[in-house]
Amino acid sequence: MNGAERKQHWQRVYLERDAREVSWFEDSPAASLELLGCVNLTYASSVIDVGGGASALVDSMLTRGFEHLTVLDISSAALDVARARLGVAADRVTWLAADITTADLPAAAYDVWHDRAVFHFLTDPTSCAAYVAALKNSLRPSGHALIATFAPDGPKTCSGLETIRYDAAGLLEVLGTDQFTLLEQRIKQHVTPSGGTQAFVYALFKRSS
Ligand SMILES: C[S@@+](CC[C@H](N)C(=O)[O-])C[C@H]1O[C@@H](n2cnc3c(N)ncnc32)[C@H](O)[C@@H]1O
Repeated sequence: MNGAERKQHWQRVYLERDAREVSWFEDSPAASLELLGCVNLTYASSVIDVGGGASALVDSMLTRGFEHLTVLDISSAALDVARARLGVAADRVTWLAADITTADLPAAAYDVWHDRAVFHFLTDPTSCAAYVAALKNSLRPSGHALIATFAPDGPKTCSGLETIRYDAAGLLEVLGTDQFTLLEQRIKQHVTPSGGTQAFVYALFKRSS
């Protein structure tokens, strides 16, 4: 799947489906918040939610007082859903409609890189390498990356697309042990709106200074 096809796929998903009915929908991003609670964030911390889609993580972070928030997604329709839900509070967020494998992000700009259920869709080595390069370019030294993907016993496909399943050690290998340390990991069983379960691994990494 090339970049244009990827964009078209996700745009269609959010235009044609209710964001509360997609398999990855969660009422509360509890696992993400739990692990972000392990990071010494301050109100000055800059956080990017990569492939944030219509997730309510940005709502939760705003409620907790964080003001330097960026949500990036390949689908502008997904961002529209989140913006509409937030109303005027959406003006306090930076919204980027971009493919993370080609996005032009500022260097050393973020203290936290959050990704739930995006990286596992990058099944070709070129896209995977581009994602890691974007992360390394825009995450500050000593910053944290919280990446949640399907776990080894998680689904092989999602939204009609193939996925790569990881454990925390596999994610660390992709990021590179020369720059990253695994701080925390959790296995979470996500219950989909239709009642199925999906095994996710949440892995929190710290970048060296
Ligand atoms: C499974 S959904 C997860 C959405 C959100 N993180 C959540 O937890 O609800 C995957 C999201 O990644 C976005 N996405 C997929 N490929 C992307 C890419 N290459 N760059 C940026 N966003 C992407 C999709 O539009 C979609 O919103």
